[in-house]
Amino acid sequence: MAGELSPIDKAKFVAAKRAVDFVENGMKVGLGTGSTAAWMVRCLGELVREDGLKIVGVPTSSRTADLARQVGIKVVSLDEAKWLDLTIDGADEFDMDLNLIKGGGGALLQEKIVATASDQMIVIADVAKQVAQLGAFPLPVEVVPFGWQTTKALVEETLSSMDVLGHTTTLRMNGDRPFITDEGNYIVDLHLHRIGNGRQLSLVLNQIPGVVENGLFIDICDIVVIGHGDGRVEVRDVTAGTVEETRIEFTSSDNMFADLGD
Ligand code: 5RP
Repeated sequence: MAGELSPIDKAKFVAAKRAVDFVENGMKVGLGTGSTAAWMVRCLGELVREDGLKIVGVPTSSRTADLARQVGIKVVSLDEAKWLDLTIDGADEFDMDLNLIKGGGGALLQEKIVATASDQMIVIADVAKQVAQLGAFPLPVEVVPFGWQTTKALVEETLSSMDVLGHTTTLRMNGDRPFITDEGNYIVDLHLHRIGNGRQLSLVLNQIPGVVENGLFIDICDIVVIGHGDGRVEVRDVTAGTVEETRIEFTSSDNMFADLGD
């Protein structure tokens, strides 16, 4: 089955597989959302079922919660766990300082809350997510439905004084209706093309009434595990200043690859 994976899925899988090495018995683990995080949840489930790994997981979305339960991970809420040892999640973009854009899957709010309540955040990503400067990927901003058009207009007005290249914003849709987050909110995607000062932009956006949270993760992530389609995996730790490279063979059982829903 592994032979049927596309290079990008192989890259996501090997990043996920390497990242679960950081999970130890007794840990409380934040479980990210998205296709890369789904590989990680499956890898963790395998360790729980076959190696007796004892962990509890705090999912960052209802999708991840369903998958975690399905693969045998004990799921608890963040309020039950209170504080987490580690969160492993995907990203839409990461830069050299491990600042991120997240929220392509619409789960940025829970993802940021969970990552911030963790001793450590590890991002898992295929190499294509690495950028010199954030902003090519549209920046997701979660807004409350009440007055969303006014909030969107205020966001656009704010962008005109920010160090960004584009100023267009779009309401994220799910078919012919607005996309609704797990918290019942809308997502406005900002097409900025280049973000000059992510820290400033993040702070300013979050001051607009109606904005709940934005997808910039600044100084939250400690380690990135980067997967390549040929099985190479790079672990970059910005705090320690280390880079380690390994290779992972595709030997996992077939059911790991079957029916993988994001
Ligand atoms: C979901 C996210 C995801 O981590 C991000 O979109 C990456 O997803 P994928 O691993 O499918 O490329 O932020 O809100």
